[in-house]
Amino acid sequence: MKIEIKNIQKEFKTIGRRSVNVLRDINLEMKDGEFFVLLGPSGCGKSTLLNIIAGLENPTGGKLVFDNKVVASGNKNECISPKERNVAMVFQTYALYPHLSVYENIAFPLRIAKMDKAEIDKQVRKSAEILHITNHIDSKPSELSGGERQRVAIARAIVRKPRALLFDEPLSNLDAQLRTATRIELKKLQRELGITTVYVTHDQVEAMTLGDRVAVLKDGFVQQVDSAINLYEKPANKFVAGFIGFPNMNLFDVEVLREQEKLYIQFEKDRFYFDNSSVKAGVKYCMGIRPADIEVASDNENILKGKIDTMELLGKEVLLYVSSNNMEFSIFTHKKGFKENQEISFRFDQSKIHFFEK
Ligand SMILES: Nc1ncnc2c1ncn2[C@@H]1O[C@H](COP(=O)(O)OP(=O)(O)OP(=O)(O)O)[C@@H](O)[C@H]1O
Ligand SMILES: [Mg+2]
Repeated sequence: MKIEIKNIQKEFKTIGRRSVNVLRDINLEMKDGEFFVLLGPSGCGKSTLLNIIAGLENPTGGKLVFDNKVVASGNKNECISPKERNVAMVFQTYALYPHLSVYENIAFPLRIAKMDKAEIDKQVRKSAEILHITNHIDSKPSELSGGERQRVAIARAIVRKPRALLFDEPLSNLDAQLRTATRIELKKLQRELGITTVYVTHDQVEAMTLGDRVAVLKDGFVQQVDSAINLYEKPANKFVAGFIGFPNMNLFDVEVLREQEKLYIQFEKDRFYFDNSSVKAGVKYCMGIRPADIEVASDNENILKGKIDTMELLGKEVLLYVSSNNMEFSIFTHKKGFKENQEISFRFDQSKIHFFEK
């Protein structure tokens, strides 16, 4: 199913307090079968948008369209109930019925839909098998681990073959190892089922590994919608640049100047010359450079000088925190033998410098 979000707005009116415009003007399109991720900082409205898709909230403006049919809009009369939308949601807290067995939890939506017993049994067993929980089918949720409970919740979501699967931070209660393993399985499962999936997370690694495309949300607007690699390599603005990628991108306010035909950035002491046909001299930019795109230099040509304040060993690589020109740079390198307080020289990979207009 194709999901279109057109100029969606959501304003919460809170009694006695100012109303809040959580979603100001959201425009997105999720293609049929796509794994689509909504990513953004806490409080940016991800769950609100997902709830609107599910029908748990109504938008205050705009339109929500499933396969060319309006299912919700600012006009309440146009809103179709969650049941009729036939989408399934999986929550962070699993939301299983504690008094029901795993089997009955999975069967629940089918019983509501009054499916016949033999068919229910077939579908429940099939879903349980897909999620590898057949052994636990007679257990109660309290007898399961967090990871197993989440599988039950997912099995329950897929059992009635929904037109879309909606996930709200489904893995964030799992430990790091289990989260990674479940993430990989979830991606595989979604591919097999081919069901349009909207997945909410504030974890960029999860977003980047799962999403065919990722929408970055902040301040009620979509900041960028793109593939993981494009978000990383071509961030549309300073927020996306700083939000995506680990270690975080270095971001500084700079002024680009020109000396004859050469462009340069004047830092407090050092000057860095670079080539870039898309920036103009005399303009102030926010400059971004990823820690991995700064090279520790062993010569003196076109360098900045600094001193290592601290460092962190990250597997084979090391992340250096370097003070230079009254600023702090982080540099990610696989070179070895650094010490704190050591003087070093470094330069930027010119082709990897991002310039954001201010
Ligand atoms: N029913 C409500 N009434 C008033 N304000 C609300 C309501 N629901 C959400 N909000 C506000 O809307 C904003 C967005 O909330 P939402 O839960 O969508 O954020 P989120 O991006 O999912 O955050 P998180 O990552 O922490 O889950 C928050 O500031 C929240 O306080
Ligand atoms: Mg949320």
